[in-house]
Amino acid sequence: MHSYPYTITISSEKGGVGKTTLATNLAIYLKAMREDLPVTIFSFDNHFTIDKMFELQKRGENSKDVHSLLMAEKAAAVVETGQYGVNYIRSSTELGDIHEKFKGPMTLTRMLAESGISGIIIIDTRPDLNILTQNALYAADRVLIPVKDLPSLENCKNIFALFDQRGIDKKSLALIPCLIDERIKFEGIFKDQKTLLRAIAVNRGYRCLDSFISKSPKVESLNTNPDGKIYPILTHARGTDVHGQFMEISRDVLRSVDATEETRACLYSRWLQEKEANKKESYLARLEGLTERCLICGGVLAEQPDDRSFYFETSDRSSRGFLHGNCVSKMLCSTLYGLHDNDPAFDSARALVADKVTRGVSLLLPRINFDNCQLDYRQFNMSGELILQKNVAMPGFDAGIFNGVNDRLYLLLNEALAGFEGALRKESWLSVYPVDPGNPEAVLHEESYKMIHKLQKHFATTLKQTIL
Ligand SMILES: Nc1ncnc2c1ncn2[C@@H]1O[C@H](COP(=O)(O)OP(=O)(O)OP(=O)(O)O)[C@@H](O)[C@H]1O
Ligand SMILES: [Mg+2]
Ligand SMILES: [Zn+2]
Repeated sequence: MHSYPYTITISSEKGGVGKTTLATNLAIYLKAMREDLPVTIFSFDNHFTIDKMFELQKRGENSKDVHSLLMAEKAAAVVETGQYGVNYIRSSTELGDIHEKFKGPMTLTRMLAESGISGIIIIDTRPDLNILTQNALYAADRVLIPVKDLPSLENCKNIFALFDQRGIDKKSLALIPCLIDERIKFEGIFKDQKTLLRAIAVNRGYRCLDSFISKSPKVESLNTNPDGKIYPILTHARGTDVHGQFMEISRDVLRSVDATEETRACLYSRWLQEKEANKKESYLARLEGLTERCLICGGVLAEQPDDRSFYFETSDRSSRGFLHGNCVSKMLCSTLYGLHDNDPAFDSARALVADKVTRGVSLLLPRINFDNCQLDYRQFNMSGELILQKNVAMPGFDAGIFNGVNDRLYLLLNEALAGFEGALRKESWLSVYPVDPGNPEAVLHEESYKMIHKLQKHFATTLKQTIL
């Protein structure tokens, strides 16, 4: 069964509030308290603290890192087993140029959902709200926001505002007082720093954890060592209050993990699947309405599927389907040049038309007046710009007389646009789109069909303006 991670993001716009210390040590405590639970950590910052703490082997030439993950590398290839049983992804200095790729706020959620990583993921972020941080915020089942003083508490409002803007439930967000100096006491009801911070936070409608993290010289010393290593609180600062505080925070986190039936990654993945299913359904519905024959030669397309090089659709969408490439080029050759099939110039003219017609959309609008039948023929490029317009007489069209030149055109118009009692549906037109004959149905897939839909709409507006 596919597994989905429970994601915890540590974030604050303010630098130096203890994000990285919280992220790395939380990973170690969680792993120590629940050995069978995989814990994976990575950082969007370029301080390499994660690497210094968890690395078992020096970085090699082929080592993958967070950059690789964000470039859609498979999670199995980027996650490494690290110290203390914690899995980690190496940090990268090259995340600056990746922002372009991360236009969408849910890209990371999707990556994590598809990663197959199980257990807990902890994401340490940079002290800003760039697109990567935003992605990490939206991917999280739980966001921990360390606050150490009033300015850092002030800064929280931007994270909350982000969630408001996107209409995302803010219940995943929680503040945690950090770097609390317990020697500082105040007179009155707010007797110390953490009580004051918590009171202000709650007053502003922010959820605040019951736990907090004290400032400890011992903890501060852990990242300055002769060997360049950074030591964990669990192994090197057991005697401090901070050790007990981390136990408490970890227990709290594990309770949430246990109580979560479906993580964000899981929910998002289900939503994506439903969306895909809907897409497939609309695709199948689009396939369903197609004409069975090529309306020009009358050939059954299932029997002659090879040359399906065009897709046509009428303005009212009531008739749609594929046409043979050969049939379309012959039809347009006769229509645009007035040539008979047996004219000596026919083949070379047809080759020319065939080339032109595959580069854009042909629009066929019959204009039927009492004694004058004309075809308004237009060609557009794929951006909807008009590149050619020609009025072609259609002698005998309304009387149903075939003259050997326009037969194919008359057949197509009649088959596609006929309404009651043989007359054409008023103001209806049809457009013919080139498609890949190797996979004509691809045109009905969500993205390409969207383009057709857009062009049809654009044509309708353009024609309305010229008809008026
Ligand atoms: N509980 C603590 N007691 C004392 N010092 C601490 C404590 N937690 C963190 N520090 C120290 O505070 C400094 C900042 O901590 P840390 O790097 O974790 O913050 P950060 O929010 O990740 O910073 P940045 O925004 O630069 O990434 C570090 O020197 C760290 O050793
Ligand atoms: Mg940091
Ligand atoms: Zn045909």
